[in-house]
Amino acid sequence: MDQHEPIQRITSWLNDARSVVVLTGAGISAESGLATFRDPEEGLWAKYDPMELATIDAFNRDPELVTRWYHWRFTKAREVEPNPGHHALARLEQRLLERDRSVTIVTQNVDGLHQRAGSKRVVEIHGTILRWRCTKTGAEKSLEDLSFEVLPIPSDHGGLMRPCVVWFGEMLPEHALADTFSALEHCDLFLSIGTSATVQPAASFIEVARAAGAKTVEINRDPTPITDLVDCAAHGPSGTLLPAIIDQLRQLDDS
Ligand code: OAD
Repeated sequence: MDQHEPIQRITSWLNDARSVVVLTGAGISAESGLATFRDPEEGLWAKYDPMELATIDAFNRDPELVTRWYHWRFTKAREVEPNPGHHALARLEQRLLERDRSVTIVTQNVDGLHQRAGSKRVVEIHGTILRWRCTKTGAEKSLEDLSFEVLPIPSDHGGLMRPCVVWFGEMLPEHALADTFSALEHCDLFLSIGTSATVQPAASFIEVARAAGAKTVEINRDPTPITDLVDCAAHGPSGTLLPAIIDQLRQLDDS
């Protein structure tokens, strides 16, 4: 499908926007080499059972297995590099900041790739695998301060260390939700990128943005449940579409 027309529209909206919210999901990191969750063949949830790996019950039942799985995931995340999609969003932030405008990236990803690409305002609503905390006291440590020689990892306070990610059945971090809703309620442009838009509450953020009067955009390899709701959808790899959009935006500056 020719994406020229949606790219032109999205570029023009980004040029006019004062306050942008970008929701990202696993799809934006796919071109870095990290698996998504719901791909029918390669997705993490096609190969592994989330109830065995991503719940507090699973951790209590078999903390060694769960620790091993997250160790594998952060090792992968640290091996790979941010891709052109992540870099394009960092360039967008820089451009908007130069004009006294803002962009907030609200990510469901726990891989830290937006920050490594240079994005500053990133809200991690599902937490991060790059920090771990004690099950007893909540005291956090970054990976550099943890040893994975003994699994599960004993904490300094008689508990175990677990990743600072949100597991199924757990609350999202309060401060992250507050920052997200505050950004959504004031945004005039909302972009949903590389997410299947199936997991709550992220799947409903589009409604909050629409209620605030924002234009809405989807950039995704495939159609999703919100495709028919957005004002404009561009379908293709975000690592190609996002740089194309930001290049067009830069061309507007030069014209
Ligand atoms: P999903 O795996 O559900 O969806 C990934 C989306 O990215 C799909 O719609 C793909 O079509 C799309 N996609 C794949 N490659 C792409 C590419 N190169 N460019 C653009 N789009 C691409 O992942 P999420 O929506 O992030 O939660 O899943 C949300 C949450 O479900 C995750 O944060 C995780 C999971 O269970 C927890 O673990 C709490």
